[in-house]
Amino acid sequence: REAAGQAYFDRIISEDSRIEPRDWMPAAYRKTLLRQISQHAHSEIIGMQPEANWITRAPSLKRKSILMAKVQDEAGHGLYLYSAAETLGQSRDQMMEDLIAGKARYSSIFNYPTISWADMGAIGWLVDGAAICNQVPLCRASYGPYGRAMVRICKEESFHQRQGFEILLELSNGTPAQKQMAQDAVNRWYAPSLMMFGPPDDDSPNSKQSMAWNIKRFSNDELRSRFVGMMVEQVKVLGLTLPDKDIRFNEETKKWEHGPLDWNEFKEVLAGRGPCNSQRIERRREAHENGAWVREAAVAYARKQAEKVNA
Ligand code: ACO
Repeated sequence: REAAGQAYFDRIISEDSRIEPRDWMPAAYRKTLLRQISQHAHSEIIGMQPEANWITRAPSLKRKSILMAKVQDEAGHGLYLYSAAETLGQSRDQMMEDLIAGKARYSSIFNYPTISWADMGAIGWLVDGAAICNQVPLCRASYGPYGRAMVRICKEESFHQRQGFEILLELSNGTPAQKQMAQDAVNRWYAPSLMMFGPPDDDSPNSKQSMAWNIKRFSNDELRSRFVGMMVEQVKVLGLTLPDKDIRFNEETKKWEHGPLDWNEFKEVLAGRGPCNSQRIERRREAHENGAWVREAAVAYARKQAEKVNA
């Protein structure tokens, strides 16, 4: 059965078709998907915090409703992704426990503080921009539930990016102090957003196998380079600059290049020593504990409904 399963799996992958939850799959494929999808789900959930920090201080009612809707969208993304991960056999409770115990990874980017309103613009433009660049190819991931979840997520991310761009554009066209605030936010978020794509290719242990399995379609450096190429044009429209004097288009390789990134900082953040790591996990734990009564009520309600049907 194992051999037949492997042959089926190999054929599906070589045809660039999709593996579904009930199909046989190699244990390592399941493990890598669980790793990536759960980390992705955690990122969406932890990613609500830096922006939630500004909901009460949004500069107008309109901005406040947009920001609330955006943060709710991120919660929704986390939920689709937890559902996709559950189809691989891991319970949501277990994933949540790992997250609040500090055992699970989530994106490095969400361990940086949001210190001004312009950070809402920079997150939307740069962070969600990087997320789209990384996630559009994931819509074609070989695992069905993951690819399908990504389609909807990417549509919403596009809207998020536009709203971030628009916040920065308005600030950039505002008073000199507002323009400075926008530039400062771009300066702080630029390098961390480039690091979202993961370590350089020669230091990325998972890429090769994930690409062979059609989970990842492009390498970390390839996507990072594309992202720089997109941002370098958009920043001109904003009337701002990217804090990187080394950006250039390499005519020989036909790729965008950027200046050096501080990979030590990246490793520190991954090791739990970024500016906000402990605060993010603490807040998540608190929210989870405070939400216990909602989960209990939902279970009690479901039980009652089931009893009614069975009665
Ligand atoms: N933040 C935290 N951890 C990271 C990051 C990052 N930006 N980049 C890489 N890592 C981790 C990997 O998870 C891996 O750790 P593990 O082996 O302990 O699981 C390790 O660093 C080595 O990296 P790679 O071998 O390059 O790992 P991988 O092939 O999984 O590539 C990537 C990393 C590109 C992030 C991939 O997992 C991916 O595309 N994930 C889906 C997208 C995603 O999670 N986005 C979250 C942020 S976007 C948002 O939520 C708005």
